[in-house]
This record gives sequence, C-alpha cells and structure tokens, in this order.
Amino acid sequence: MTAATTDRLVLREWTGVPADLARIYDIYSRDEVMRWLGGGAGRLTEPEQAAERLTTWRERHAGHAGRYGLWAIEVRETGAVAGSVLLKPLPGADGHTPTEDIEVGWHLHPDSWGHGYATEAARAVLAREFATGTRQVYAVVTPGNDRSMAVCRRLGMTYVGRRTDWYGGTEVETFVLTAATSAGSTPAPTR
Ligand SMILES: CC(C)(COP(=O)(O)OP(=O)(O)OC[C@H]1O[C@@H](n2cnc3c(N)ncnc32)[C@H](O)[C@@H]1OP(=O)(O)O)[C@@H](O)C(=O)NCCC(=O)NCCS
Repeated sequence: MTAATTDRLVLREWTGVPADLARIYDIYSRDEVMRWLGGGAGRLTEPEQAAERLTTWRERHAGHAGRYGLWAIEVRETGAVAGSVLLKPLPGADGHTPTEDIEVGWHLHPDSWGHGYATEAARAVLAREFATGTRQVYAVVTPGNDRSMAVCRRLGMTYVGRRTDWYGGTEVETFVLTAATSAGSTPAPTR
C-alpha cells in the first residue's frame, strides 16, 4: 500500500520480496545507520533476520490502519529504495508503552544520502498527519547526529532541547513541528 507520493518519491510498505529484504538487511546491519538508532541495539547480523524485522514492523503497526508505520522510500526515477521514513507514537518511559506524542523519523542507506530524500519523505508524512488534526509532531535525535538534526531544521522544526521523556529515559535531542508552522501551511493573515 502507498502511504504518500512526492515529486521524486513513492512512500510504500516494505514487502517480503527478495529485493526489499536484501535492502532491509543492507540498511539495518550497517554501523553508519545503526549507531544512531537506539545505540546500535537491534542491528541485523544475518540476512535471514530481515524477514523477522519486517514482521516486527508489521505487527507493531497492525492496529494503526496505515496511519502510523515505517515505509520504504522508493525513488521513482530508479525504483531503488533509499531507506525508511516513519511516523508513530513515541514509546514512553518504560521503553514500550506508546505515548500520545507522535514521532517522525528517517533511516537512509548511505548510498542515498545527500539528495534531499529524507526531508522530502518526511514532509509528505507530516502533511498527511497534520491533515488528520494532529497539532504537533516530534523528532528525537541521538546527540551528535548532525545530519539528522539538519533534516529537522530543513523541515522547519524547532529545537526544544535534550529530553528524557521517551524511549525508556534515553537522552535525546528533541525537535517539534506544530501544525500552524508546518512546511507548506498558509500563515494566518496579519492585520
Ligand atoms: C539522517 C539522514 C537521513 C540524513 O540524510 P541526508 O541525505 O543528509 O538528508 P536529506 O535526505 O534531507 O538530504 C539533504 C542533503 O541533500 C542535498 N540535496 C541534493 N539534492 C537535493 C534536492 N533535490 N533537494 C533537497 N536536498 C538536496 C542537500 O543539499 C543536503 O546536502 P548536505 O548534507 O550536503 O547539506 C541520513 O544521514 C541517515 O539515514 N543516517 C543514518 C540513520 C539516522 O541517523 N537516522 C536518524 C535517526 S534520528
């Protein structure tokens, strides 16, 4: 199922076809990617684990009716998958229980960095979420992940400091985007 499309991208579900599973393994086994995701916990070490990871994602979002998930970012021109974009409730202080705070995130293969794909994909899922009436969406970033913080700034997100409210109390650089100031929204007229 397609979650959203942009000029250059199709945001779609990851599938169990061999090309997708190989790409999942290639992305989620890499230190350049995984060092920034939960401190490297959950790094895939065997290609066979890609199918298990896909099942985990599907189970996690089965009750979300397509609103929340982790989608493949497919580049229209080449058909290649650049990585994932996600939108989901942030897990709280126990590390599991979903909070009412919504997170946007991005995981790209290094061969797809430097093209603006993360920003373009995130903009699309943010627009879709804000259209449902959600007022705020967060991005949480491991300290030192400058490339990810640059994506937050390109999206027009506001830095709110280091917080420990989510992911079991892990300290994260936190950014927020509110619907009123989201990219593409029309500012209220001023008198
Ligand atoms: C974080 C991450 C997604 C950032 O990727 P990125 O490619 O730097 O970010 P974008 O996709 O927004 O691309 C922006 C870059 O593309 C360039 N670009 C090239 N063509 C572009 C275009 N047509 N439109 C927009 N930007 C373009 C921009 O100038 C910018 O380059 P710069 O970094 O030299 O300034 C990537 O580094 C990553 O996946 N890291 C590992 C996982 C990770 O850390 N995830 C985040 C966890 S919080």
